[in-house]
Amino acid sequence: MPVSEKIYPRTQDAQTVYLKNVITDPRIQIGEYTMYNDFVNDPRDFEKNNVLYHYPINDDKLKIGKYCSIACGAKFLFTSANHTLSSLSTYPFPIFFEEWELDAANVADAWDNRGDIVLGNDVWIGYEAVILSGVTIGDGAVVGARAVVTKDVPPYTIVGGVPAKLMKKRFSDDVIAKLSEIRWWDRPEDWIKNNLGAIQTGEISKLK
Ligand SMILES: CC(C)(COP(=O)(O)OP(=O)(O)OC[C@H]1O[C@@H](n2cnc3c(N)ncnc32)[C@H](O)[C@@H]1OP(=O)(O)O)[C@@H](O)C(=O)NCCC(=O)NCCS
Repeated sequence: MPVSEKIYPRTQDAQTVYLKNVITDPRIQIGEYTMYNDFVNDPRDFEKNNVLYHYPINDDKLKIGKYCSIACGAKFLFTSANHTLSSLSTYPFPIFFEEWELDAANVADAWDNRGDIVLGNDVWIGYEAVILSGVTIGDGAVVGARAVVTKDVPPYTIVGGVPAKLMKKRFSDDVIAKLSEIRWWDRPEDWIKNNLGAIQTGEISKLK
């Protein structure tokens, strides 16, 4: 079965899915081979259990590149989680427009709009990490277990903690520049297969 149709990358493992093939919401875009593992809930329910406060009225997007690894319980918190701070109260009166005789058209005034969440390619999101709306995470970055990511993460950077802070760069600037130029994730599968040895051992000079 081609990867464009396959749900389970491993036979006899119903806890790991290719996310692209289980998503139904057009506001969520996922690249090929990106996988999600969940040993608590059905991983096919990712958009219900892991993409939260993603109300259609805002039209925010979740964009995730190719070859990302998303660990169990990682959550993407969208704009509607942000009760507005410019109001005198954080109580979301606009949502309860009937109760307060407000205009239903202004329901989005209840929250501050921070926009899309964007992950590059080859990003690894650790167990139960939380990514907040408006955040962009670069190619090759790593988010530690239980981090809360409030700001953008540069490519090939490891972040962790609450709020997530830079822990280290994964490679030297020189290697990061080369990887960003090679963009191995855009290469055909045959190229990747031929180069898996070098990719796995971390030897950039051996890429063919
Ligand atoms: C973030 C991570 C990749 C870092 O791995 P590493 O580079 O080997 O990190 P180290 O163990 O050398 O720790 C480096 C420092 O970061 C801290 N640290 C490690 N993981 C952390 C985390 N998740 N949150 C906060 N701090 C963390 C360590 O305490 C250590 O601190 P110190 O420098 O003050 O001693 C790893 O710790 C992690 O969280 N992995 C996610 C695992 C996971 O969720 N897997 C799910 C299945 S895919």
